[in-house]
Amino acid sequence: MSAEALSRPFKRLADYLPPAFSIESTDLTFELDPVNTVVTAELQIRRLDSKVVELCLQGQQLELLSVQYKGHLLSADDYQLDDKSLRLTVQDDRFSLVIKTRLQPQANTALEGLYYANNTFCTQCEAEGFQRITYYLDRPDVLSLFSSSLIADPQQYPFLLSNGNKVEQRELTDGRRLVRWQDPFPKPCYLFALVAGDFDTLSSEYQTASGRTVQLEFYVEKGQGSKASFALESLKRAMRWDEERFGLEYDLERYMVVAVDFFNMGAMENKGLNVFNSKYVLVSEASATDKDFFNVESIIGHEYFHNWTGNRVTCRDWFQLSLKEGLTVFRDQEFSRDMGSATVNRIDAVQVIRTAQFAEDASPMAHPIRPEQVMEMNNFYTVTVYDKGAEVIRMLHTLLGEAGFQAGMRLYFQRHDGQAVTCDDFVQAMQDANQQDLTAFRRWYQQSGTPVLSVKRSYDADRRQLTLTLQQKTPPTADQAQKQPLVLPIRYQLLGSKRSSSELFVMTSAQASLTFDNVEATALPVVLEDFSAPVRLQHDYSDAELLRIATEASNGFARWDALQSCWLGWLQQAVAKGESYELPEGLFDFYQQLLHQPLTDLALTAELLKVPDYAVFAENFSPIPVDAILDAITDFRRQLSQRLAGAWLHCYQQQRQTTPDYHETNVGQRALKNRCLEFLALLPECNKTVLEQQYRNANTMTDQLAALKAAQQGGYPGFHTLMEDFGKAWQHDVLVLDKWFGLHASNPDPAVFAQIEALCQHDKFSWQNPNRVRAVFHAFTMLNPGQFHRLDGRGYALLTDTVIQLDGINPQVAARLVTPLLSWKRFDTERQSLLRAALERLADRAGISDDVFEKVSKALA
Ligand code: ARG
Ligand code: ZN
Repeated sequence: MSAEALSRPFKRLADYLPPAFSIESTDLTFELDPVNTVVTAELQIRRLDSKVVELCLQGQQLELLSVQYKGHLLSADDYQLDDKSLRLTVQDDRFSLVIKTRLQPQANTALEGLYYANNTFCTQCEAEGFQRITYYLDRPDVLSLFSSSLIADPQQYPFLLSNGNKVEQRELTDGRRLVRWQDPFPKPCYLFALVAGDFDTLSSEYQTASGRTVQLEFYVEKGQGSKASFALESLKRAMRWDEERFGLEYDLERYMVVAVDFFNMGAMENKGLNVFNSKYVLVSEASATDKDFFNVESIIGHEYFHNWTGNRVTCRDWFQLSLKEGLTVFRDQEFSRDMGSATVNRIDAVQVIRTAQFAEDASPMAHPIRPEQVMEMNNFYTVTVYDKGAEVIRMLHTLLGEAGFQAGMRLYFQRHDGQAVTCDDFVQAMQDANQQDLTAFRRWYQQSGTPVLSVKRSYDADRRQLTLTLQQKTPPTADQAQKQPLVLPIRYQLLGSKRSSSELFVMTSAQASLTFDNVEATALPVVLEDFSAPVRLQHDYSDAELLRIATEASNGFARWDALQSCWLGWLQQAVAKGESYELPEGLFDFYQQLLHQPLTDLALTAELLKVPDYAVFAENFSPIPVDAILDAITDFRRQLSQRLAGAWLHCYQQQRQTTPDYHETNVGQRALKNRCLEFLALLPECNKTVLEQQYRNANTMTDQLAALKAAQQGGYPGFHTLMEDFGKAWQHDVLVLDKWFGLHASNPDPAVFAQIEALCQHDKFSWQNPNRVRAVFHAFTMLNPGQFHRLDGRGYALLTDTVIQLDGINPQVAARLVTPLLSWKRFDTERQSLLRAALERLADRAGISDDVFEKVSKALA
């Protein structure tokens, strides 16, 4: 590693200091042009700490044109300028600064700050992108009143949007148009946004609970207007839901959502002007799957909910990111649960924790939900901060109950509306509203890692007494050696006893025990219902006991989870034996029963009938036996398809007719039908007709894509013809083409390398577009473990080359892609040395971004 690289600094939570200056108002004027945009920022600044004489404003990738201090133009000797900041000495307690900068939005392929793509100007300022627009105190605890004037050619950019209320629109003498916006709510600069372009619009009105009318406006790519109506309706449902469940109402007259195809992440909650990745707005039954519909509703909800948890109350510093993200994910999960199958929603959320988040905890990037040091903040928009953060909020909810939790929320807003606060402030509000001591609970914010909770049973036949001994232990992580016991809310039920309802036990120390008097020897505890704490559970249950839970437990999640335990056990046996492991009769009976008499929740039935994916199994091994896991999965699927051939077909036919709309029953029906199809496709005798028919007659993208996936998995010879047909049919729709790219890249055959090369030449592929890049490479690294982890290193080399190429274009996307290389220590020695070499190649590259460098250097440390 070069010396320059080694000296890159971390920012630390412990070094936090409050700002010495406040920016009372920020008036921005944008003269928009793709290659020469001039930004004039007029700032009214107040000194808060009179001992401080230097004002240091951050700025990156900016051309400074001029600075005026209290109306006087400064010369270059009056300030210090480098590639990260503008510094000046100030004598006054109140003064104005007018800063002019020049930007080149079209050259901004990092898509951070102001950028120009697809004939549209767009901003992304979170976390620290505003300093790519002008020199500023780019930190979330500096709240300012923003106004902005956008000036552009009205022919090319008929819509000029920014935060808040539109207060002026006029044509200038040179033919350009000026639109002026004012946001009445003070906000940190990361919530600033502007968008300029030409769009299809879709609008509607919403009546708030208190009777105010809000204009809802969606702006989407020309010709796509009809695909935004589901998102618009989702927004109304989210607004209503937040009023009913949290008592929170929207606070501006207008709520705008813009969908763009060039976007680094899912969406952004800018005040009054959300910007979305088009993939999370544009859906129709013909072009989007049920999963896509689900994501749209949940992300529309997420960004809307941020208006209170994020915007009205924001973060003091970026280490507190989970304050808004964990809480808002919790809120969007609760919303989604109310909109569809509650059990399957919980299952999906838990899968994210058990695969991606547990993997992150076990990786060199392990961090607590409130990280303590950061090199590049964009690297910390993680499953830990977001999803584990939401689990921590969920535990508070479990501990305090709905009423106590809502009392805490009310106190939180009462104390902190309009402020930038910390995670501790949030917990304190919960604590004070409930008179509960949450001191020990706060460890969840500072401790990284995944606790292992083990459960042992002993039964005393004479006393008819069952004792559960619980132990928790968190193994060390890359960032922390010592771990303390955590507060674990454990929901449980005792099967086969009179006390059959669900109960809560709160574990606060390393060891605890629970006794049940007067119970039969057959009483069976179901522990960790609904995944009431984010831990790995260890137990010694037999297959028979687990299958009993899977059939009898009243908690749907627990039923599914018991089966997950079975699968893991069987897979471990298969891997240990190194040959086929015969699945037990009990499983076939259980499945036979489900296929002939599905549960009322069809989506849950489909989940129960699933062999877990590679990622689920892999997470339980170290080292990860890649090939043995893949072989065992193939073998399990084969056994199920053959033994239950008639039952799969029967159930498939029962569910064949579905109505296309996205409604819970239709979604469940499709999920179950397509699960059956997956197994039918493994049977040579019936795959042809069934697959071809479903592909040709599909009335939804869900069904069409399921047919393609099943054809690929089943090795159906006609697969390539279907893919060609699909690719031609959807040429015009990049969001559907992304699915097609992804399917190609997940082809488990060595031919995938040539295919990926061809995809990157496809005329709809672009290295500048994160959606296209992710469609190909996310699928390759995450959904194609066999080829990605090849023992000749070809998969790793392809990813390394891609990261290098992308880092020069878009470091944020490059750094997300690099993740699968980091966990090199979890593989066998051959793969370890290949992965290490790949990481070293990245670390040694001159000019590698902080984003990629932070991750790679941690992995090699
Ligand atoms: N706040 C946005 C959201 O969760 C995401 C912003 C992500 N920013 C980033 N630099 N990765 O809705
Ligand atoms: Zn968010």
